[in-house]
This record gives sequence, C-alpha cells and structure tokens, in this order.
Amino acid sequence: MPFWKSISKLGFQKGSLVYLYSLSAIIIILSLATTTYLAAQLDDADQRSDHTDRHSFDRPIAIQGQGQLPISDGSITINNYGHDKDDDDDNGNGNDKTPPPDLLLSVPFYVYEELIWTNATINDEPIPHVATHGRHKTRFKHSDDYWFYEAAMKHPMRTTDIYEAKLFFVPIFLNFLDYAKYVKRDFCNLGTCGYDLLLETERKLQKHKAFRKHPERHVIVRSFYTASWERWYNEYESMDKGYRKFMNLIPKMSCIIFEGKEFIPSPPNPARVTLPSYYVGTACNQSQPWEDGTPVVPGAKPFDVAMIATLKEERLAFQDRRNVCNWLNQSTTVKTSLCGPGKRCPALSQSKFGIHAAGDTFGSQRLIDTMLSGSVPIFTSLDQYRIQGPWIDWKQLSYYLPVHDDTAFSGQPVTQFSVRKTPSQEAFLESLQKILDDKEGYERRRQKILEHNPLFDHETMYPFDTYMYLIQAELFPETRQRKSRWSALLLPPPLFDEP
Ligand SMILES: *[C@@H]1O[C@H](CO)[C@@H](O)[C@H](O)[C@H]1NC(C)=O
Ligand SMILES: *[C@@H]1O[C@H](CO)[C@@H](O)[C@H](O)[C@H]1NC(C)=O
Ligand SMILES: *[C@@H]1O[C@H](CO)[C@@H](O)[C@H](O)[C@H]1NC(C)=O
Repeated sequence: MPFWKSISKLGFQKGSLVYLYSLSAIIIILSLATTTYLAAQLDDADQRSDHTDRHSFDRPIAIQGQGQLPISDGSITINNYGHDKDDDDDNGNGNDKTPPPDLLLSVPFYVYEELIWTNATINDEPIPHVATHGRHKTRFKHSDDYWFYEAAMKHPMRTTDIYEAKLFFVPIFLNFLDYAKYVKRDFCNLGTCGYDLLLETERKLQKHKAFRKHPERHVIVRSFYTASWERWYNEYESMDKGYRKFMNLIPKMSCIIFEGKEFIPSPPNPARVTLPSYYVGTACNQSQPWEDGTPVVPGAKPFDVAMIATLKEERLAFQDRRNVCNWLNQSTTVKTSLCGPGKRCPALSQSKFGIHAAGDTFGSQRLIDTMLSGSVPIFTSLDQYRIQGPWIDWKQLSYYLPVHDDTAFSGQPVTQFSVRKTPSQEAFLESLQKILDDKEGYERRRQKILEHNPLFDHETMYPFDTYMYLIQAELFPETRQRKSRWSALLLPPPLFDEP
C-alpha cells in the first residue's frame, strides 16, 4: 500500500491542516532516523542491526559433509608475488563456497580489506619485494604475514560479507613492521609511518562489532622474534601510545607466534588460539650449477650431508653447530658438501641430508629450506621438535641425532647463554653412520617430504589453509575434518564417530 494511502486510512482528510502537520512531522522523523542510521553506519561498519542473532558469527555452524578427499594436482598455488594487477577482480570469492577438496578450512572467513597496507614500504622498498629478496635473494624468513595475506585474498572460503564470516583475518604486515623497527628502517604506508599505523589499525578494528564480540576469532600473524621479548615491550617501546594500545589488543586475538613463545603482556583471552609459525623457507633451484660453473645433475644427491649456517665463534649458543662442523671435518667416510657459512645452493640440494642445529634459538628457516630442496632434515635436539606445532608427524619426515644431552637443561629456560653438554665425536659419527646406512628409511622420508612440500611452501595456499583450519578446529570443534591429503598432518580428532 502506498505511503500516502496509509496516512489517509488513519482518517485524515487530504489538504487538512492536521494532515499537513502530520505529514511534515513524519517526514522530519524519517529524515532524522535516516541521518542517525547513516551516521551509525559510518561509525560502526558492521553495526547493521542491534539484533546480534542476525549475525552469522553467532549462529551455530552446519556440519559439512566429509567424504574421501581426493588428492589434487596441487594447482591451487599463488604463482605470482602479488604484483598481478588483475587480481583485484579475481579474488576467488565468487558464489561457489565449496573449497577445493584438498583444502581443509571449511568455514567462511572475512579479510579486513581496509587494514591492508597495500602501499607499505621499508625504506621505500615495497613489501612484496622485501618478502622475496631476503639475504641471498631467498624469501624473508619471517614473511609469513605477507604470504598469509596473499593466500587469504585467494582462498575460496573468503567471504566479503562480514556477517557471513566465522573467522576473520587481520591482514597487516606486522612482522615487517617489527623487522623494520628492529633494523631501524622506515616502515610507511601512504605517508603514515611506524606505530601510527598500529594506532590506526586499533581504531578501525575496535569499530567492528565482530571484533569487539569475538576477538579470538580474529587471526593475526605476529611471528617476528622481537614479539616475544619483554624488553621490546617494556623498554624500547614504552613511550609509544599507538604501540601499547595495539599490543594490548592482539593478545585477545588468535595468533601465529614465534616458536611458541607467548607475547608480553600476557594474553587476557583464554578462548584464543596460538600456533607457532613455520619459518618461510626457499627451495634450491635443482639445476643451479656450483659456483665455479661445474654443472649438477638435477635431483641427484652425490653428498651425504650439508649444514650451511653461520657458526658465530663468539656465541655459546652456536656450540652445537661448531661441534657438528668439526666432527664432520674429522670424518673420512661421511661426504659433506658444505658445513659452515657459504652458498646454500647447490650444496643443500645435492646432499641427502640437511643438519638442523640450533643457533640463537631452536628454530630456523634451514629446516624448511632443506625439505623444499628435497633433502631430509636431521634434527639435533628435542627442543627443535617441541617448538614446532604438534600437528606435524615429524617421524615421517626427519631423523633425530642428538648432539648434546637434552636432559642437561630440560625444564629450564634456554637462552643463548645456556650451556649445552657435549657428547663425543665418536658417538655422533657412529649414530650418523647408522642413519646413512638406513637406505630404506631415507627413501621413505624423502618421498614423504616431496609429497608434503606444498604444505611447507608459503607460495602455495596450504600453510595459510592449515593454520586457519587448526584455529577453526579449536573454535568450532564440531566442524573437524576426518581426513586430509597430508599423511603427516595430525588432525585434531573429530568430536563424533563416523555416522
Ligand atoms: C597503492 O598500491 C595500489 C596497488 O598496488 C596502486 O594501484 C596505487 O596506485 C598505489 N597508490 C599509491 C599512492 O602509490
Ligand atoms: C634454475 O637454474 C638454471 C641454471 O642456472 C636456470 O637456467 C633456470 O632459469 C633456473 N630456474 C629458475 C626457476 O630460476
Ligand atoms: C678441517 O680441519 C682442517 C685441519 O684439521 C682445517 O685446516 C680446516 O680448516 C677444517 N675445515 C673446517 C671447515 O672446519
């Protein structure tokens, strides 16, 4: 029924004074209401309604049908470095919300596009370039924030409707900001620099009801190692308001963190999920010749072991590495391509094994480099397993060869000054020989590593998909999947038996 007719029905006569007054009053009320409504819209981007039940993020989730998951051809890869200008139109979030069968994340997630630092630079170098031109032109080892953003924009479960989302991705380049601060370079995005960007992000996030209500459903990467330093929070940054405000916010969110180390200040939100990050690794080019031009046979492994790593004579924490290189140097039977500092490739890819020994901390991108180069990692301390997420079955992918007595400092905080007990050279070389003799075990692990390469390669969608799924599995356990394409991925068990 037209508006004016409904007015007439109330008994007013067209043209009467009462009618005119009423009409004006109604128009004034309506325009006031509209203005208030628009203002509310501007003020609170997702305050569409006060009836929170309307928000999908408050409704229970339908459990997805889960069948056999066929193995894909691995074609869901990000095959550019984010420079593709046409990408904006092709963000993979069309109407079809069914994920490709080998992706795990199965709830819709929202990306706060207003928070993307599209034009961010470090000393005028664009972030995509910094991410791909680390030392030796490898990927920057703490660039998971950037790769996750790339994957998020292309993931089929991304929704552009915040009301439809169950999880939320905060796509800021926080690792790069931390890194820039650490190396004292300028981090800017369109004229806003440093921690001012955090203050801005904090304001924008707080405006969203989804954030205020469910910060734990918000996923953010903060895995540059300064994030776990007390002094970084307490001393270095104590003067900056933007930094403090933001840092008090992120422990409420679900976070990808450095080697499992919690933030300072302590997280106030028990519902949140934290997951230790993988380092971002880079594969060797299998055809790359030796430095003197000698060609290689691609994929061949004429050497037994490699460990390309700095040995930092002055630091006690590097004693394991120095021991390993000294012992290997004394062996007449083990064929070592390179131990110590030097060129990573092709020494790493031309060796069957890559030794993973602690430096300043237990983790290293060396582990990922080794696997992406088709070599089998040898872990040298149990803590190197402990700092990983518990969701990888490392028995399938690695060997363990202790280079010091782990029990010597179990339970104690390990710092770069911890003294590690030294086992003998004989014990080390004897155990290493046993590993070299295990031909069948080596082949099995090598096959598994090749199969699992996409899971550890940040240029594919799988690291992002896995982390998001693991958070989904904690926050919405009723949606847990039974199977994945990865035999070495230990999925959280489903709540219910198979129907
Ligand atoms: C910011 O980045 C976008 C996307 O790369 C580009 O289209 C735009 O021109 C940039 N803006 C400025 C001011 O550089
Ligand atoms: C790998 O190295 C070979 C030999 O140097 C080179 O011809 C080839 O372009 C490289 N491939 C890639 C993907 O960089
Ligand atoms: C190996 O040992 C020899 C002599 O013992 C020494 O000259 C050489 O520098 C050592 N090489 C390495 C890489 O430590």
